[in-house]
Amino acid sequence: MTLCFATNNKGKILEIKTILGKKFEIQSLQEIGCHEELPETKDTIEGNSLQKAEYVWENYGVNCFSDDSGLEVSALNGAPGVYSAMYAGPTCDTKNNIVLLLKNMEGKEDRSALFRTCITLIINGEMHQFEGTVKGKILKTRQGEKGFGYDPIFQPEGFDNSFAEMTLEDKNKISHRGTAVRKLVEYLTKL
Ligand code: IMP
Repeated sequence: MTLCFATNNKGKILEIKTILGKKFEIQSLQEIGCHEELPETKDTIEGNSLQKAEYVWENYGVNCFSDDSGLEVSALNGAPGVYSAMYAGPTCDTKNNIVLLLKNMEGKEDRSALFRTCITLIINGEMHQFEGTVKGKILKTRQGEKGFGYDPIFQPEGFDNSFAEMTLEDKNKISHRGTAVRKLVEYLTKL
């Protein structure tokens, strides 16, 4: 079966190709002729994930899946959540997003947080969603250089290291994305 992964992130495509093996041919957006930005205008992670997969299905008629993730911080009422990538506004980048999050967490006792991924799969018009979460806490300072995004300030529950101090392999074993991808793969391999 051929499936389009509705993302422009080459790293994510490579990762899923490695996991799924030869039974599934994974196509990028470019390979199906989609060169425009996918819409991501919903206010939930599930909503954005669905919106991207629906866009590809409705405009290109190919079986596909998409993912959307975010970091939900309890003391900030779930922020940055669906807005994780653009938290610091016009000047948003990884560094500024972390600086703002640490500033907004100053003086907060409850540092608990949750990373969440929602994958939406559409096969022949039928939709399925797969969720992955990982609980943890927001550290007071950056720790580690690996990974991306908020990895240096997120310490998963039951571990002494931040995500940015773990190998990608170890992070994937417990991460929100790793869990959601494993659920997707389990579903696909039963087809
Ligand atoms: P995406 O939907 O997977 O592109 O994730 C949206 C944003 O959430 C990213 O730009 C990061 O800021 C943040 N994020 C998602 N997953 C992770 C992760 O595993 N580590 C750190 N930050 C993440």
